[in-house]
Amino acid sequence: MKKIKNICCIGAGYVGGPTMSVIASKCPEITVNVVDINQKRIDLWNHEDLDKLPIYEPGLKEVVGKARGKNLFFSTEVDRAIDEADMIFISVNTPTKTYGKGKGQAADLKYIELCARNIAKVAVNDKIVVEKSTLPVRTAEALKSILENTGNNVNFEILSNPEFLAEGTAIDDLLDADRILIGGADTPSGQEAKDALSWVYEHWLPKERILQTNVWSSELSKLVANAFLAQRVSSINSISALCERTDANVAEVSKAIGYDSRIGSRFLNSSVGFGGSCFQKDILNLVYIAKSFGLQEVADYWEQVIIMNDYQKRRFADNIIATLYNTVSGKKIAFYGWAFKKDTNDTRESAAIYVADALLEENANIVVYDPKVSKETIYADLEYLGNKSREEIEKLVTVVNDPIEAAKDAHAIAVLTEWDEFKEYDWQAIHDLMLKPAFVFDGRRILDHKKMEALGFKFYKIGQNG
Ligand code: NAD
Ligand code: UGA
Repeated sequence: MKKIKNICCIGAGYVGGPTMSVIASKCPEITVNVVDINQKRIDLWNHEDLDKLPIYEPGLKEVVGKARGKNLFFSTEVDRAIDEADMIFISVNTPTKTYGKGKGQAADLKYIELCARNIAKVAVNDKIVVEKSTLPVRTAEALKSILENTGNNVNFEILSNPEFLAEGTAIDDLLDADRILIGGADTPSGQEAKDALSWVYEHWLPKERILQTNVWSSELSKLVANAFLAQRVSSINSISALCERTDANVAEVSKAIGYDSRIGSRFLNSSVGFGGSCFQKDILNLVYIAKSFGLQEVADYWEQVIIMNDYQKRRFADNIIATLYNTVSGKKIAFYGWAFKKDTNDTRESAAIYVADALLEENANIVVYDPKVSKETIYADLEYLGNKSREEIEKLVTVVNDPIEAAKDAHAIAVLTEWDEFKEYDWQAIHDLMLKPAFVFDGRRILDHKKMEALGFKFYKIGQNG
């Protein structure tokens, strides 16, 4: 069996960085080069202070610290790394298109194509090219065409190996993956490539968890896995609205249905809405693919998951406005949390951005505290929406490093991320500092209703009235 000695990963982001760090730490005989065109990001991956890595992820700095400089290297020398590798992972971003055909739905594959053209240009010996990025089904066909028509007549074997890690638990997810999916051609060289990649993962995972399929099943399964997960969140969020009207408690409903082993208990936490770089992007992509095959009913079915998520974010913001006597103009509203979930500094598509935008439309003053997100990221997130100028945003939004400062003289606090520290705060002291009546809107269901009310708060929790 072919034994891989040198791996190159193009893209040092939330997937490339942690994934390759784990591979390097578990496979000391393999040299792993992680390359990126973003010099600043690479400099941070190489920072001697491991607290300065570009990604915050529990357990990451320990894994990087173990392998970096031994068999794990971060650099911008893309061509050299491609040349030296026998296996190349493509782990670049595949955002939703913002222009042209498929705008707002299809995945933008320009970064993938650039990688393919670069690999074809540089490679002078056979390579296994692995799709690690999440891609529309049948992308491998386009990759193959570019590689074979622009290359130096070397053999490229293309595999699909989608990543299933979740941010905040990436290292544990990688070390103890439920499954590894490897799609490849049903030919002798395709089988050899699939086995070579399986061998890498077999360094730390049992063989039974490694599934081999054809390329198209693998590509499609990644989109479908994210669609099913997001669908669970939208399903329970739709029920949260009904709970608030009927005095049912969404946590009790989740528990009651989750005890059915056919339904299962995970991913049924009602919230202000799912965020993250992938759920929305991947469902939109699925919708686009279904439409492009003329499957309108299939497209409509999955699009509803996004519509429900938008409704949940909007509902949360509308409730704040209505509860604060139908006006938030000039009122100080503290945001606890900005990241799309706890234990990450990633804010892509975070519900907080959309709730803030709706309140800014009403001229609210927002003060944000998040333990891991920088002021610059928060301003950039709001600016990206294009609804307010940078100047207006900086006038209306303040970012602080202290949750107590955020609460001082606030009319309301909105909990947008489920950071554990929020549960430990001295809420009595916070209540004392706020304007009265002091409102708290818990978009993550982490605070205790009765305790908060006993402290004097007017307390609102998604999916539960009391
Ligand atoms: P990211 O934006 O954090 O990282 C992508 C990196 O690729 C960036 O640093 C960018 O500079 C680099 N890049 C882009 N074009 C390049 C090129 N031509 N050459 C070299 N570097 C280039 O993205 P991410 O979150 O790591 O996601 C990457 C892919 O993995 C996406 O397809 C995503 O859908 C998928 N995915 C993400 C997650 C997650 O939790 N973030 C989980 C599973 C799958
Ligand atoms: C998700 C998937 O869980 C990963 O398997 C997948 O690899 C990844 O997308 C991807 O392709 O990018 P991630 O987005 O990092 O991972 O995090 P999740 O834990 O799935 O949470 C996504 C969003 O849903 C968060 O905003 C979270 O707060 C929300 N959520 C999740 C809920 O509101 N309720 C839940 O019960 C679960």
